[in-house]
Amino acid sequence: MLKKMFFSPFGETRTPYSVVRIMIVIVVISYLLKHCKKEKRPWWKNSIVYQIYPRSFHDTNGDGTGDLKGITAKADYLYDLGVKTLWISPFFTSPMADSGYDISNFVDVDPIFGSLADLDELLKTMHSKDIKVVLDFVPNHSSDEHEWFQRSLRREEPFADYYVWADPKGFSDSGNPIPPNNWLSKFRGSAWEWREERGQFYYHQYHRKQPDLNYRNLRLQEEIKNVLKFWMDRGADGFRVDALKHLFEVEDLSLDEPVNEEAGVEDNLQYNYLKHPFTMNQPETFEVVRDWRKMMNTYSDKWFTLCRDLTPPLAPWARLLIVQVYNKDIQDVVKYYGSDTDPLADFPFNFRIIKKLHNRSDVTGTRLMKIIDEWFDNLPEGKWPNWVLGSHDHSRVASRLGADLVDALNMLTLLLPGTPVTYFGEEIGMQDTEISWEDTKDPQGRNFGPDHYRKHSRDPCRTPMQWDATANAGFSKGPSTWLPVNDNYKTLNVKAQSEARESHLKVYKTLARLRQESSFAKGKLAFPVVTDEVLAFIRYLEDEPTYLVVLNLSENDVVVDLHQHTNLELPPDASVITRSVSDKSEENSPGPKVSLSALMLVKGEGLVLQLTFAKEIE
Ligand code: GLC
Repeated sequence: MLKKMFFSPFGETRTPYSVVRIMIVIVVISYLLKHCKKEKRPWWKNSIVYQIYPRSFHDTNGDGTGDLKGITAKADYLYDLGVKTLWISPFFTSPMADSGYDISNFVDVDPIFGSLADLDELLKTMHSKDIKVVLDFVPNHSSDEHEWFQRSLRREEPFADYYVWADPKGFSDSGNPIPPNNWLSKFRGSAWEWREERGQFYYHQYHRKQPDLNYRNLRLQEEIKNVLKFWMDRGADGFRVDALKHLFEVEDLSLDEPVNEEAGVEDNLQYNYLKHPFTMNQPETFEVVRDWRKMMNTYSDKWFTLCRDLTPPLAPWARLLIVQVYNKDIQDVVKYYGSDTDPLADFPFNFRIIKKLHNRSDVTGTRLMKIIDEWFDNLPEGKWPNWVLGSHDHSRVASRLGADLVDALNMLTLLLPGTPVTYFGEEIGMQDTEISWEDTKDPQGRNFGPDHYRKHSRDPCRTPMQWDATANAGFSKGPSTWLPVNDNYKTLNVKAQSEARESHLKVYKTLARLRQESSFAKGKLAFPVVTDEVLAFIRYLEDEPTYLVVLNLSENDVVVDLHQHTNLELPPDASVITRSVSDKSEENSPGPKVSLSALMLVKGEGLVLQLTFAKEIE
């Protein structure tokens, strides 16, 4: 009877089952067509990438260390913040010699962070909120506790050459083996560690518990690709690749690196004592990245052959590939983009603001303009910029460049064209935490000893997220936390800033919302005013509102006549959309019009204004 109720247009009867199947096909096709039409650019271009350092984000089991469940528990916060992509620093199995960047199992979760099931739950929750999740990928090295290393140590095949092993150059008078060359570890001291069991040295660019993998071994290359596939199968939306430029070393391991005379470093155990022509950016690195890119693209495409026109990177399921490379010469950084015909990473991080501005007095409009111009001028055809203010490796931007600049710098990075990368806590202006020698965990700090660790330790920027004014800043209900919480948590925290009338958090959310508007997402860019004190930029698009962002980067309150400094025809006034929290004046409160001939800005202030018109922009 039921069977008879379903008729096909062609006259034959259909079972309810086949009707359901047809409906599923229709739904899938319409979904694909909708996205084919809608998506004009890859998803990550409109997104903010928000970096979570999982050890310090939120602890749900009271052991004083953040965990994956803690990230999932904060999904609503992340959604409200307006960040559409999370990059989560390593949570893989690790003895924690370098805070998780020493991985002993690339395809499992360390128990201190939870389990694979917790990760699945995290991915499901974030995806249900349309938030993508990018994982940290550490291809350069593993932990010395990784099974591969243990077996390599015993020369077991096929692992014997999975790491960079070398014979000693000779033996000292006292019979000690001498390393094959003078290469230094980034964490100080020789990059070679002797293993009696094998009668050879192994190479470690970082900690001695982080032996470098040998990419000249093709089987190892395949193993590493399987790691990427494993996480993509579980739903990862992309990767941030750690320490990429160190993937290869020259083949001839007898070559010494030259002393870096210009650096003027006296400590001959410090990394910068030498130049590094043989241990970074070797040409083979690009072939490996190309191979990952290709694999990730075909991988993304696998199940969606119906939407052939929408090949990666345009598809909503395309995987994002970001690479971490520090190089002085910008050409050595941007070449990791590849080109349209030979795509490599979607972007290499732009660390120029971090690397070129070291303290408050370094920040001027002219210097910032130079940094911005440098990136745009060197950006390969068709590629997309990005802006980074901080990370787990650097002093927090509020401490490094100035607490008064928190909102202005977020305005800059969130409203320029490009993808901004926000290190957790930057949205509330978190600051570095003073850490005693006894509490210091970072090996980079510890290797310099109690008198010098402060200059090198990365712990101050890694302390727990400040959620509220309760014990441990609401980060953990346990008796203590893995690193101390900053003393300022009672006033500087998420809850206080959510309740305040004006706060860094509220400014950040406004900016995250604004950057979705067409004028920012797709609009053009002009710089009407660039002086040491003030940097102003306009974002505009035909038939859309025109915005003017004015930043007072000086350490004084100023009154600027924008008309005087610009050759653009600006209107007499504009309305305030948002401003730095330090500005308490009635005039600049959001809403009313302000005069562009006498614009008042307190020190370090940023203002986002909407213009009624701005002529002759082009
Ligand atoms: C990268 C990471 C850093 C880590 C190092 C070794 O530079 O950002 O935190 O210590 O690689 O993995």
